[in-house]
Amino acid sequence: MPHIPAFVALNADGVQLIVSLSSGTPVILHFGADLGSSLDVAALGLASQEAVPHADLDEHISPGIWREDSRGFHGRPALLGQTNGQNWAPLFAIQGVTSDPDSIEIACVDQSAGLEIAVNYKLSKEGVLRVSQRVKNQSNETYAVEELNAWLPLPDHVTETMDFTGRWVKERQPQRREIQVGTWSREIREGRSGHDYTIVQLAMTPGANYQTGEVWSVGLQWSGNTRHLVEKLPTGRASIGAGELLLPGEVILAQGEEYVAPSLVVSYSAEGIDGITDRHYRWLRSRSNHPSVVRPRPLTLNVWEAVYFDHNLEKLTQLADVAQVIGVERFVLDDGWFGSRRNDRSGLGDWVVSNDVWPNGLKPLIDVVKSRGMEFGLWFEGEMVNPDSDLFREHPDWILHVEGRTPPEGRFQQVLDLTHQAAFEHVFSQIDAILSEYDIAYIKWDHNRTLTDAAHFGKAAVREQTKAIYRLFDELKLHHPGLEIESCSSGGGRIDLGMVNHADRFWTSDCNDALERQYIQRYTQYVIPPEMLGSHIGPTESHTTHRTHSLHFRAITALFGHAGLEWDLTQTTDEERAQLKSWASYYKANRSLIHSGRMVRIEQPDDSVFVHGVVAQDKSRAIFALVSLRGMPTSTPNALRFEGLDGVANYRVKLVEPAGKAQYVGRHSPRWLDGVVLTGAALARVGIRPPILAPENAVLIELERL
Ligand code: DGJ
Repeated sequence: MPHIPAFVALNADGVQLIVSLSSGTPVILHFGADLGSSLDVAALGLASQEAVPHADLDEHISPGIWREDSRGFHGRPALLGQTNGQNWAPLFAIQGVTSDPDSIEIACVDQSAGLEIAVNYKLSKEGVLRVSQRVKNQSNETYAVEELNAWLPLPDHVTETMDFTGRWVKERQPQRREIQVGTWSREIREGRSGHDYTIVQLAMTPGANYQTGEVWSVGLQWSGNTRHLVEKLPTGRASIGAGELLLPGEVILAQGEEYVAPSLVVSYSAEGIDGITDRHYRWLRSRSNHPSVVRPRPLTLNVWEAVYFDHNLEKLTQLADVAQVIGVERFVLDDGWFGSRRNDRSGLGDWVVSNDVWPNGLKPLIDVVKSRGMEFGLWFEGEMVNPDSDLFREHPDWILHVEGRTPPEGRFQQVLDLTHQAAFEHVFSQIDAILSEYDIAYIKWDHNRTLTDAAHFGKAAVREQTKAIYRLFDELKLHHPGLEIESCSSGGGRIDLGMVNHADRFWTSDCNDALERQYIQRYTQYVIPPEMLGSHIGPTESHTTHRTHSLHFRAITALFGHAGLEWDLTQTTDEERAQLKSWASYYKANRSLIHSGRMVRIEQPDDSVFVHGVVAQDKSRAIFALVSLRGMPTSTPNALRFEGLDGVANYRVKLVEPAGKAQYVGRHSPRWLDGVVLTGAALARVGIRPPILAPENAVLIELERL
């Protein structure tokens, strides 16, 4: 029997994980703030032992991370599964433990059930914990896995949760609630992460906000079906967890087979929600292939809202001409260039350039784009097929479906079964051919319907389909070094911590209305950094809401992301072009700060205003936006405060308007607008008096340390 230590621990960046192994099962004693080097872990174990109430088992048994029924735990077990009705309540014993400075691996076994289970905890230098679990069937009968969730205990002083719901053009709407006895389960069964996907679930101390309070977050590295959970038992103990939502029969393990669950990303902040954001950003940015580490995020023009399906070289050349004047760096041709795709009813699946609209191929357009100093991007939706397509006519069986039924159509399309090797190869080879023939730097990859009846030869196949799209992206990138991929799914329907490893950009939302975008971007940015989130200046009148906004408001909103334009620029006035040019230069001059700094959001006394900004990691500079969302409840606005600065340093503060002027409604603006010098502490504790903005307006405030 190998030596099993009584405790194992990981520490990084003020965060600590302590796992006790002394009771025969792994028990998380603590995940949160570092408890100090003089901590006696055995004493913590002793202090953590519960009293035994009446009407309970005679001894308190800690259920540990597997939360087994066999140990007397009455909450939701981590592993659910069975072998012909047997082995549904395993009892795991620790088999071996290995650890190094940044990771711990614990292997357990239930000999009689023939099950092996293992967990790996890996703590990054930024204090982000990855929890990876797998279960292996060693018996000679099949074992059906129903779920394998990863859980963490929540301290008793955590009383609130926050997660996010949404729909098309209104993604990531927060829901905050008190943790009460019961299970709060956010489930996604769409076969993609979805507009309603929470990305992360937060648990917080009472009233925690952007800068204060303790906050824990969990998010799954997965783009298929998911479940995020918060559970509180009548004992008073609460926990947070998540896992892949498996469909019945989706994972059935034969002898020797194993199920590797998607990893859980966990983080902790003693400094409010901004601390969670900061850890995720630093963790993602530490990757050598992180998009903004690879190169500055190019200012993008996507022509979708300019021309929709109406492709012609003359119009697109005019657009490229204006884009060049403005300073656009990437020109993206959206839906409509291939097969019979003249509208959304046909052509999906036929990834060959349409002779009707592009008789000389895409080269003439790409030459126009490149000669104007821009790179070229192209739209695909390779997981889908219109029944009215050559592909479907040749291979009607290549869709995810249950034998004898055809799933209902969504946007006139079906889902191509990428777990079918021949279908996968067909899509790969057609797209590979386009990428080989043309100089294409970037693809926008769409996914415009949910999965229903998603079966491969009768067996549920969401899991395998999700793995297939990851493989497709990875192989395309392997064959076309430097290729960037944007994950789009009717806007923000596939933004998650799994896809961050396969895509370089997310299309945040089909809503380009700046007011809606303020909310969508704010909440998506809780863990996804701005450089990965496409944010475009849309038309003056929004195509999805029909609201009208000034260019200035749209421009400031689009600045805090991977900025771009999505508007028929040929219709813009000279004045608008000049303002767009000025905004484009501002974006280019400041994107290195916006895409590397710490995101800071300032709590407001009322909900008429957002204040958010990015502070350089060395605190030398910052750019904040003051956003007027609606009419103020008071006649003069609340003080504009700034957090995250160096408290003792002096900063010059000034208001900037890089794309025209905001609309002010006061009789006089304050006198500091051209510059005032204050300490970081004064800016945080007292603040400055802002001008009175009309609703749906914004201004930028620059801060520079002297
Ligand atoms: C939905 C996307 O979100 C849009 O941006 C656009 O690409 C259309 N699909 C094209 O069909």
